[in-house]
Amino acid sequence: MSTNDSTLARRLGKSAEILVRHDSPFNAGPPPEIATASFVTPNDLFFVRNHGDVPEIDPRTFHLTIEGRVKRPFRISLEELRRLPKITLAATLQCAGNRRQELMAAQPIPGELGWGTEAISTAEWSGVPLRDVLAVAEPTAEGRHVELHGLDETERHGHRFTFGGSIPLDKAVRPEVLLAYEMNGQPLLPVHGFPLRAVVPGWIGARSVKWLTRIELRDEPSENYFQAKAYRLFPSHVGMDDVVWETGLMLGEFNLTSVIASPTEGGTLAAGSHVVRGWAYAGERRVERVDLSLDGGRSWLVAELEPERSRWAWRRWEARIDLPSGPTELACRAWDSAAQTQPEHPGQVWNFKGYMNNSWHRVRVNAA
Ligand code: MTE
Repeated sequence: MSTNDSTLARRLGKSAEILVRHDSPFNAGPPPEIATASFVTPNDLFFVRNHGDVPEIDPRTFHLTIEGRVKRPFRISLEELRRLPKITLAATLQCAGNRRQELMAAQPIPGELGWGTEAISTAEWSGVPLRDVLAVAEPTAEGRHVELHGLDETERHGHRFTFGGSIPLDKAVRPEVLLAYEMNGQPLLPVHGFPLRAVVPGWIGARSVKWLTRIELRDEPSENYFQAKAYRLFPSHVGMDDVVWETGLMLGEFNLTSVIASPTEGGTLAAGSHVVRGWAYAGERRVERVDLSLDGGRSWLVAELEPERSRWAWRRWEARIDLPSGPTELACRAWDSAAQTQPEHPGQVWNFKGYMNNSWHRVRVNAA
């Protein structure tokens, strides 16, 4: 990171150690070797994914509006929200574009951020269950989707608009979906959505809308660009020139993925005994096992998984290996509670927007 990046990071409440992928809008995440140092990511290292500039919001005049297909539309201030029963929950957020860099190595993806493995972090979120607020508004039978509107503006294809997206009502009324105003016991940092954001555990980060100002119950999913076009999955033969946006799979639940956090790519180590560390995450399902291979998947060691600390968070793992002299490629794959595992190669999941890469994670090291 350059000095400019670290000055900017500090100004935004971030550590000088954070890996900055883009400075304006600010996009950054914890470097892999420190990402798994603790189960909960410190606020100053928690990854940031911003599509536009951070809006300035006065918490004293801030209101959240609930409207659309509801019997009782209403507005609520931050102070009133804070007086409602508060819950705290540890949940991992991950961007659908995490690990895009590996897809880019298989085939270029112009115009998208080249995330390594750092667009993921875990926090203890505090706030009000979204369902408590929805219960007051009473969605009508038509209100099957909950649209979340942010206050930040962004521009795409010559249009300026605010960030937004939706989740189905079925998910919105689950107890883990929060209107969060605190992160690790502190008010949200401006870059993380101060004063209020949604947290939708198990789902792609894009649905956890920051600077949340309006909730609208709708018959259909949101028509916002970030729901109707971006964050959709297409087969590998489809590109920007021939895409028919409506045909893409609308992303919601996360898939199963795992990563080797240390050692890191290209590292030089002494031959002999080493501990390999990483994380695994399964979205709505549970991580059950992580395997590590030193021989391209012909044989596997079963890693030691830390006990599940939260149904909605990653599980860190480690495995002791005996590293031979010379070059070795380490590869990991996880298994989930539906006995699903990860695809072997990035080419099997390549898509022109670069989402949801969950192929085996590989790290090449050299031992002297
Ligand atoms: N909400 C708003 N209003 N604007 C955004 O740009 N980015 C989304 C989501 N919520 C975004 C947003 C994406 S793509 C992700 S991955 C998460 O926020 C990241 O949350 P974080 O920056 O707190 O880590």
